[in-house]
Amino acid sequence: MTASIIDGKAFAAALRGQVAGHVAALTAAHGIVPGLAVVLVGDDPASHVYVRSKGKMTVEVGMRSFEHRLPVDTDEATLLALIHQLNNDAQVHGILVQLPLPDHLNADLVINAIDPAKDVDGFHISNVGLLATGQKAMVPCTPLGCLLMLRAHHGSLAGMEAVVIGRSNIVGKPMAQLLLGDSCTVTLAHSRTRNLAEVVRRADIVVAAVGRAQMVPGDWIKPGATVIDVGINRVDAGEGKTRLVGDVDFDSASGVAGAITPVPGGVGPMTIACLLANTVTACCRANALPEPEGLTV
Ligand code: GUN
Repeated sequence: MTASIIDGKAFAAALRGQVAGHVAALTAAHGIVPGLAVVLVGDDPASHVYVRSKGKMTVEVGMRSFEHRLPVDTDEATLLALIHQLNNDAQVHGILVQLPLPDHLNADLVINAIDPAKDVDGFHISNVGLLATGQKAMVPCTPLGCLLMLRAHHGSLAGMEAVVIGRSNIVGKPMAQLLLGDSCTVTLAHSRTRNLAEVVRRADIVVAAVGRAQMVPGDWIKPGATVIDVGINRVDAGEGKTRLVGDVDFDSASGVAGAITPVPGGVGPMTIACLLANTVTACCRANALPEPEGLTV
């Protein structure tokens, strides 16, 4: 292996430490405790695990956590009424509606009902527009985590060739906007891109966010490139066991890349740390206090 490992777990622990410091200072100086409300509809087991983990870490950094678990048959009016209540609750600075929602609920409608100032996921159309136009936004957590790690590794990203694979609203599109904001030359590739291997071979920075296990092999990677693997895919490991792998084939890619994030322990831990950071940022903005440096872009 030639690549250095970008340790997302360590980055995330350091970022949570910074967040905890800012929370303690806010509470000591102003009596303000940042609060994060998480809304989960239905019984998706993975979502329940994520939400529990978010709640635990929220409390660990000194913030208030409000969890709202609603039954799978919750109707739109009930969910919208809850969001309205959270929008008007002064103790709540951040609101996250866990996705995916059950099919009978319109996710766009629900997300756009969140007060954009409390939209710590950065999914509201106002925040999407602010990010796209280079204005101060709430930035989606996963791409924010990727950008913070890239900046820490490289310093300036200006002029670098970046290829993002995957065009989702949650990762691919905002990731491309953030890299463009840092003056990369950005290609947003996806499942219909022709000659994907050749496109990826141009990249100094590869961000893989397609959701297909190990689809990017090492021979697509330019020697020395930095590889950020957003994928979390559970695959068969034989003998009735499973294991987690990314969208990149780690074994071959780590022989070519200059630096790479592992799965697990790369991007994943940074997502929740960035959610906590966004909640502190939202809390400072809501109280017209200076925003801590280093928590957002
Ligand atoms: N489900 C998977 N990732 C996310 C995320 O970043 N935010 C929300 N709200 N739901 C998700």
